[in-house]
Amino acid sequence: MNEEWIKYAEDFTSGESDVLQELRAHCYAHYEDSSMLSGFFQGRVLSMLSHMIRPNIVLEIGTYLGYSALCFAEGLAPEGKVITLDVQEDTNRVAREFVAKTEYRDKIEFHLGNALDVIPTLPHMFDLVFIDADKPNYSNYYNLVFDRVRSGGFIIADNVLWSGKVIEPDMDENTQALHDFNKMVLADTRVSNVLLSIRDGLMVIRKDQ
Ligand SMILES: C[S@@+](CC[C@H](N)C(=O)[O-])C[C@H]1O[C@@H](n2cnc3c(N)ncnc32)[C@H](O)[C@@H]1O
Repeated sequence: MNEEWIKYAEDFTSGESDVLQELRAHCYAHYEDSSMLSGFFQGRVLSMLSHMIRPNIVLEIGTYLGYSALCFAEGLAPEGKVITLDVQEDTNRVAREFVAKTEYRDKIEFHLGNALDVIPTLPHMFDLVFIDADKPNYSNYYNLVFDRVRSGGFIIADNVLWSGKVIEPDMDENTQALHDFNKMVLADTRVSNVLLSIRDGLMVIRKDQ
């Protein structure tokens, strides 16, 4: 899609909340790695998917500033919650401050630590898992959460096109890890998947059995 079509798609998409707008502006103004944040259009897609799934428990791997956690929270079932994991203390503090300003303050549970260590300590079954942290561990996260996703539940992984690098012949470690992840998902007979070419690529996976 060219830039004008993308802008048209954004213009004809419902707006985000004031807090999400404020959070994005804060991120773009103060963080050099602001491209990590899901952004307006993808955020609206995540919110819409959450509204369609109506999850009780969302597990998010990679909180950053809490933007995507807030998008998922919008579609939760009435008693639902988002459990979000990150290793970075400074961004986690900002995420908590923004979430505290919203109606979702009691619906988002923050855990600080390496996701590979934290996930096995969580007692829940998940309706939706969002993988959006360090790329070399995407396949590890998938395998770690798989048995804890309910049948019919979903796993969504961000950045699976990695700015198009996944189709280039010479791949660095992150690109290779994402390409291996995509191949693993496609070959997994327990799931159905669609790779949405939104932003940096969203892999949407349904656990069939
Ligand atoms: C792309 S950002 C997440 C963006 C966020 N989901 C959003 O869309 O607004 C990735 C985050 O993963 C975190 N991260 C990286 N390695 C991690 C690990 N091993 N365990 C938990 N979090 C990790 C980073 O600190 C960073 O905040």
